Amino acid sequence: MADQPLLQACRVHKTYHFGAHGVEVLRGVDLAVHSGEWLAVLGSSGSGKSTLMHLLGGLDRPDAGKGEIRFRGDPISLQPGAALDAYRNRDIGFVFQFYHLLPELSVLENTLLPAFVRSARKRDRATLRREAEALLGAFGLDHRLSHRPSQLSGGERQRVAIARALINRPAVLLADEPTGNLDAATGAGILDLLAERHRQGLTVVMVTHDREVAARATRQIRLVNGMSDVVEES
Ligand SMILES: Nc1ncnc2c1ncn2[C@@H]1O[C@H](COP(=O)(O)OP(=O)(O)OP(=O)(O)O)[C@@H](O)[C@H]1O
Ligand SMILES: [Mg+2]
Repeated sequence: MADQPLLQACRVHKTYHFGAHGVEVLRGVDLAVHSGEWLAVLGSSGSGKSTLMHLLGGLDRPDAGKGEIRFRGDPISLQPGAALDAYRNRDIGFVFQFYHLLPELSVLENTLLPAFVRSARKRDRATLRREAEALLGAFGLDHRLSHRPSQLSGGERQRVAIARALINRPAVLLADEPTGNLDAATGAGILDLLAERHRQGLTVVMVTHDREVAARATRQIRLVNGMSDVVEES
């Protein structure tokens, strides 16, 4: 179906438990992301943006029986196993709020890591290496391939994290505050990279608390009181 959303959250609830107490962070979030969109998710700190991204990426699951995540119309598997691995590793690319690069691996090795995982698309090592080098080159990191993350600036680390998220050619990039820890100029460079990939057909879901950053997206929503709200276009 042409108008079937690529990625959907359907009446999703998520509660965190602390002993006897529960805090319901998401209270029935409905969200549909269509192929080719660039969606910005706004919301104040603690509103549940990262929580929603983790659910969309299959890194965590909604409360039992309270909503589901669908990819191309089908609920994503919540059972650990090959189907969930393949979804996380191949269908989506995830950029974490704080990079999460492995410190003992080089830039090139960090980028290649998802491609060596069991569910990855099958490509031989030489091809993969060429693809990773091309990706890192396009991101201005060709002179940094054998550096470790600790030797890089914040903007460079974020570019490695995005390259790693793209190496398996996902349909959707989920980016949690991709510019949150960067100065305005460096952040603008990251957004230019995302814009270029978006022009080439990548679907992007991006969390931000910054309205100017959100304005780069094609559509914006806001999390308020655990539910999604449409942002009025100004
Ligand atoms: N693993 C967890 N265990 C318990 N509570 C959690 C957990 N993760 C998040 N929370 C709580 O859920 C709420 C939403 O957190 P979340 O990280 O999704 O917010 P956010 O919108 O991403 O915030 P920020 O803009 O600061 O990144 C917060 O009150 C947080 O303390
Ligand atoms: Mg967050």
